[in-house]
Amino acid sequence: MGESVTLPHVVANVVEFASRAIAVMRRGRRIDPGPRPVRVNLGSALAVAPGWIHVDSSPNALLAGRSRSIQSFAYRYTGSNAQFDLEEYRRRLNSHRFVHHDLAYGVPFTDASVDFLYSSHFLEHLSWGAGLRLLRDCYRVLHPGGVIRLCVPDLEKAVQFYLRGERDRFLSYFFSDATGQRRQHRFMYDFALLYEALSSTGFVDVIKCEFQTGRTPDLLELDNRSDETLYVEAVRAA
Ligand SMILES: C[S@@+](CC[C@H](N)C(=O)[O-])C[C@H]1O[C@@H](n2cnc3c(N)ncnc32)[C@H](O)[C@@H]1O
Repeated sequence: MGESVTLPHVVANVVEFASRAIAVMRRGRRIDPGPRPVRVNLGSALAVAPGWIHVDSSPNALLAGRSRSIQSFAYRYTGSNAQFDLEEYRRRLNSHRFVHHDLAYGVPFTDASVDFLYSSHFLEHLSWGAGLRLLRDCYRVLHPGGVIRLCVPDLEKAVQFYLRGERDRFLSYFFSDATGQRRQHRFMYDFALLYEALSSTGFVDVIKCEFQTGRTPDLLELDNRSDETLYVEAVRAA
């Protein structure tokens, strides 16, 4: 039997469509991020840290600094906010800097303007080819010597989950049970694949890191999901 179409479902789809249309219209822009050090979190959702610029294509990122009534409306309908109450949702949106942008179109900053790039559980939402294009653009926006930290679900750990009998958890890495394409994983990485992607883009000093350790600042606030994540850092050649 088909699912019934409810009003919240329709509103959520309209909001999502509008968000995507705005992202298409803004796709070529190059923002000057401001004074150094510049720290940028790609595909942040609402996992924020003070002083970072958070880039995400979710409708939430459009709503930072908007009125209470608009944010309350969005909180009800955008779907991905269940882990926060309304006040915490608004606090995250209003006390941090967000840029609404579809990263499939590249990183929306000027050349060599960023010191640190961080990304957690986002790269796997792009195909291998789109991921490589994004990494080339990450290289472009980083200062020489700038650091990128990529945190992705670890393919090797996922396989171990399967071998231990956790079949549903294993399957959830490859097939989303959520609505909406943005949440689907389009690729999975182990260290060798991430090493290949980063080195072929020109990054050097590609190393595997531990949870909350590395050259990137604010990892106590940023890193999450240690039981399933591969953490890798690399440097833009000088
Ligand atoms: C699984 S969440 C990860 C959130 C957070 N970084 C964390 O570690 O918990 C993936 C995020 O990537 C964002 N995302 C997916 N595809 C995107 C795209 N093409 N451009 C920008 N953001 C995207 C989604 O909106 C979502 O917020």
